[in-house]
Amino acid sequence: MGTPLTPYNTSDSKKEQVATMFNNVAGTYDFLNHFFSLGIDKLWRRKLVKLIGKSNPKLILDVATGTADLAIAESKLNPEKIIGVDISEKMLEVGREKIKKYPCIELQLGDSENLQFENDTFDAVSVSFGVRNFENVIAGLTEMRRVLKPEGKIFILEFSKPKNWFIQKIYYFYFCTVLPFIGKMVSKDASAYTYLPESVKIFPDGKKFVELMQYVGFKNIECKPLTFGISTIYIAKK
Ligand SMILES: C[S@@+](CC[C@H](N)C(=O)[O-])C[C@H]1O[C@@H](n2cnc3c(N)ncnc32)[C@H](O)[C@@H]1O
Repeated sequence: MGTPLTPYNTSDSKKEQVATMFNNVAGTYDFLNHFFSLGIDKLWRRKLVKLIGKSNPKLILDVATGTADLAIAESKLNPEKIIGVDISEKMLEVGREKIKKYPCIELQLGDSENLQFENDTFDAVSVSFGVRNFENVIAGLTEMRRVLKPEGKIFILEFSKPKNWFIQKIYYFYFCTVLPFIGKMVSKDASAYTYLPESVKIFPDGKKFVELMQYVGFKNIECKPLTFGISTIYIAKK
């Protein structure tokens, strides 16, 4: 996959740089997320949760959980437990404040590419806007598959590239010009909001991402584009 795109120009690994970046933006992350997407990110997570609910999972792992928005949305499914893991302590700190009203959720510092759980543990594994940030996507997908029960399912929500020419023009203007400008002003981290559109541009989406999932061994893969293909949900069985 070549040299990975990193948020900063330092000698740290991509993983360390990603953790630093999310530590830097944790305080403004939720606000900017909902502001930039005009709240549509909440609808996407809600759609994902509806799909997760169809298999009635009891034990859910939400990897790259960040400030726990997806874990909180999943709590509406009344599972016995949701464990959220993330490499950014500051994102988890924001999340820990938010989950106080949700006793079924537990947040842990942890790396999606080296999960500290036994094989065949979870009924469902979810990840929203996380896989694109992994240092090694294959390692992350392999780990998520390993910890799923034999009948378990993975649910991935990730940015993708719209196919329609007209939508592309508007979207890229907004995503590559407006978003970095406002993101820099509000978060005070100039790199974070230029890394975001760049990372989306180079990340495999649609058929290419499905091929990665097949390579890792996932079966019955479904690919559901959302909102002109700006995001996509991928669902698969172990
Ligand atoms: C864009 S945020 C998404 C957070 C949350 N899932 C959401 O939907 O808002 C990406 C998150 O992935 C986390 N992350 C990146 N690489 C990771 C890894 N290898 N293991 C665990 N978390 C990781 C980052 O720290 C960050 O919190």
